Amino acid sequence: MKEQILKVLYESDGFVSGQELCDRLGVSRTAVWKVINQLKDEGYEIESVNRKGYCLSKAPDVLSEAEIASQMKTEHFGRNICYYNEVGSTNNQAKLLAEQGAVHGTLVVAEIQNAGKGRRGRQWSSPAGLGAWMSVIMRPKLLPVDASMLTLLAGMAVTDAVNSFGIHSQIKWPNDIVIDGRKICGILTEMSTELEYINYVVTGIGVNVHNREFPEGIAQVATSLDLAAGSMTSNIHRSTLIARIMKAFEGYYETFVKEKSLAFIREEYNKRLVNFEKEVYILEKDKKRSGLCLGIDDSGCLIAVIDGQEEHIVSGEVSVRGVLGYV
Ligand code: BTN
Repeated sequence: MKEQILKVLYESDGFVSGQELCDRLGVSRTAVWKVINQLKDEGYEIESVNRKGYCLSKAPDVLSEAEIASQMKTEHFGRNICYYNEVGSTNNQAKLLAEQGAVHGTLVVAEIQNAGKGRRGRQWSSPAGLGAWMSVIMRPKLLPVDASMLTLLAGMAVTDAVNSFGIHSQIKWPNDIVIDGRKICGILTEMSTELEYINYVVTGIGVNVHNREFPEGIAQVATSLDLAAGSMTSNIHRSTLIARIMKAFEGYYETFVKEKSLAFIREEYNKRLVNFEKEVYILEKDKKRSGLCLGIDDSGCLIAVIDGQEEHIVSGEVSVRGVLGYV
């Protein structure tokens, strides 16, 4: 009921009468009043005026199941929300839930990850109140080899969501989102497969939203939405960001599972690619080669011209760096 009351309050332009809330939710006035008081305790500023009803004047940037659900505009992604105040890693928690049968689209969100994971065994700093740390469980009818393309779709979704707040973000293939050359988001896709069958895929997305400082080692390359956009982002609520990412991700996912190709986003992806038509270093184990980046192909490989030869580079095997540094 909290989610529904929040939804009505968010969607209405001014006051909503207590009677309207009762009618729409099929509950008593006392029940509505109790929930309104709970919301006030959680930091929502709600005006209550006799004969006019309730008006949400300010909402805190809190993450709760009700808050996230009240923002969600999807069909499957994020319709089942598992919210935790603290977990090790939302990816690990999502894998556990997937093993236990969690439905397609289940979204796992945590306020704090005390063992957030990055790619290649790295740590992902995930302090309380500062970021959007989430993982979504998918059960696509795809071949395991196609699943890595979901990371690219998630990248598109994150840039859509970030850009919707008026902040220009770009993609650093395959799994980073950057603003002005600094990383604001990392994506980590993991899966459980049979030989030709995917049991489930978990795509984890970590967005730095309100961070003002970062641990040593990443301080040079990391940034947050707040730092990137100045005071403007004080308006960014993590629940809205999460809901917008889910909406965009679901849209891309639905087309992708039908078409099994990235042709439908290729042009737009390449426009958002920070290294497009630039010289990059391609790092493989102990090899470092340079080449001209020509964007992605229809299966998500990065096309690079190296020593005059066009190569299609598979993610997972290499790292790509700009010749002047991280991008
Ligand atoms: C990377 O850039 O190396 C990938 C970082 C992925 C971080 C996210 S935060 C939510 C999810 N849970 C994790 O433990 N990792 C991902």
